[in-house]
Amino acid sequence: MSNTQLRLDRTQNVPIYRQLYQRLREAMADGRLPPGKRVPSVRSLASELNLSRGTVELAYQLLVSEGYFLPRGPAGTIVSPHLPESTKPAATPETATGQEPKPGLAPPLPFQLGLPALDAFPNKLWTRLTHRRLRAQTSAELNYPPPTGHPALKRALVTYLGVSRGIACQPEQIFITDSYRDSLGLICRALLKSGDSGWFEEPGYLMARERLLNEGMHLTPVGVDAEGLNVEEGLNVEEGLNVEDESRATSARFAVVTPTHQSPTGVTMTLARRQALLAWASRENAWIIEDDYDSEYRYHGHPVPALKSLDHDDRVLYAGTFSKVLFPAIKLAYLVVPLSQVAIFQQAMQRLGHGCPTLSQAVVTDFIEEGHFARHLKRMRALYKVRREHLRQALEHHLGDRIRIDLQAGGMHLLVRLADDIDDVAIASRAASAGLGGHALSAWTLTPTRQSGMLLSFTNVIDADHAHALAARLATLLE
Ligand SMILES: Cc1ncc(COP(=O)(O)O)c(C=O)c1O
Repeated sequence: MSNTQLRLDRTQNVPIYRQLYQRLREAMADGRLPPGKRVPSVRSLASELNLSRGTVELAYQLLVSEGYFLPRGPAGTIVSPHLPESTKPAATPETATGQEPKPGLAPPLPFQLGLPALDAFPNKLWTRLTHRRLRAQTSAELNYPPPTGHPALKRALVTYLGVSRGIACQPEQIFITDSYRDSLGLICRALLKSGDSGWFEEPGYLMARERLLNEGMHLTPVGVDAEGLNVEEGLNVEEGLNVEDESRATSARFAVVTPTHQSPTGVTMTLARRQALLAWASRENAWIIEDDYDSEYRYHGHPVPALKSLDHDDRVLYAGTFSKVLFPAIKLAYLVVPLSQVAIFQQAMQRLGHGCPTLSQAVVTDFIEEGHFARHLKRMRALYKVRREHLRQALEHHLGDRIRIDLQAGGMHLLVRLADDIDDVAIASRAASAGLGGHALSAWTLTPTRQSGMLLSFTNVIDADHAHALAARLATLLE
C-alpha cells in the first residue's frame, strides 16, 4: 500500500479522514491490506501523507469501531483476522464492480434492513441496457414523464403480476410511484382523509406506520400470530370501541397487511384469515392495502399467490416495489388500484405533479421483458438461501441459547428473539454505535411490548466467515 494509492483530494467536500477511511477499506477489499496484516502507525502514516495525526486517528477509530481494525496495544493495530479474504467491503456496490467509490455515499451497514445483495446486482448488464436506451432516446422521452407511469412498464407489470402473483389487472390500474411509502401517501390523498382509522399489524413495518401517522391516519394495532393478522382481534377491538362510544366513527376504513411474509415476523397469512379479511372489507366497504414487498424471496415450498388474487369485490390496493428485487436507488415502486378508483388516482397524481424518470422506467421494462428479471430473481433466491443459512448458523454458534430464531419460508431478514427481559432497544442502539445495522423488534410495535428481539438482514452477509465475524461482534454487545 503506497502513498500514491492512498492519495487524497483536498478539493472535495468529503472530509479527509473520511476519504482516508474509504481508501483503507478499498485496500482491504482488494487484498492490499489482508486480514491480520499490521497497519502503519498513526504517526508514520500521518507523516507519510502529510496529514495531522488527529485526522489519521479519526479514520482508524472509525475502522476499529466497525470491526475492520483491531488495536493490539504496543504491538500496533492490525486488520481484523475475522474479515474474509478480499471480500469484506464488497457489500458496497462500488467496490463490488471495481469502480471508484463515490465519496460521500456511506456504505451500507452490516445487517441493514431492506437491502438486496448489493454486491450481486448485474451492474454490467444494467449499464449495457441503460446505454442502449440512452443512444435511442427520442426528444419525446426528454419531456415530463407521464404522471401515472411509463406505459411500457405498466404493460410489462401486467404480464409479470398475472404470471407470478396471480393478479388479473389492466395497465391503467397500475400507478408507478417512487416507493412503497409514496404509494401509501397517494392512497391517503386519493381515498382517505386525515383522521381516518385503519388496522395496522402489530408488530408491523415501521416506515409504513410513520408515513401513515404523518398523513394524519389513526392506527389500531391488531396482533399477528402464526396465521398472520388476527382478523378476529380486529373485529373485537372495533366492537369494543363502538360499545364504549357510539358517537365515535371508529370503524376502520382500511387495513395494511403483508400477507406473503409478514413484516417483521415472516409468517404467511393463512387462506382462512385472508378470506376473513376480504369478507370484512366487503362488508364494511373498507380498503385493504397489501404490501407485497418481498414475495419473490421464498426459500421453501411453493410461492403463495397474492391476497389480491382472491379479491373478487375489488377492495384490495396492491403495492409492489423494485427496491428489493432490483436496488433501492432505482426509486421505483407500483400500486395496482381497483378499476372503480382509477380516475380518482389519475386526478390525484396529476395534482401532485407526479412522475418518475422515463429512462429508469424504460430500462426496468427491458430488464423484465428480456428475461433478465426472472433470471436475476432466481439467482438471488439461491444466494439468499445460502446467506441466510450462514447467518443463522453463525448466530446460533456465537449466541447459543441466548437467542431463538424462527425460520420462516421467506423474507430478507432474520428475526432473532431474545429473552423478554432483555432491552432490545438498548442493544440496537449499542449495535448502531458499533457500526452495525438492524432494528429492535419492540421498535416495530405501536403498543409497549414484552417481546424482545433483533431484526437482522442477511442479504449482504457475503460468506460464512463474514457471518461469523458479524455474529461475534453482536455477541459482545449482548454480554
Ligand atoms: C415491509 C416493507 N414494505 C415495503 C418496503 C419497500 O419500501 P420502499 O419501496 O419504500 O423501498 C420495505 C422496505 O424495506 C419493507 O420492509
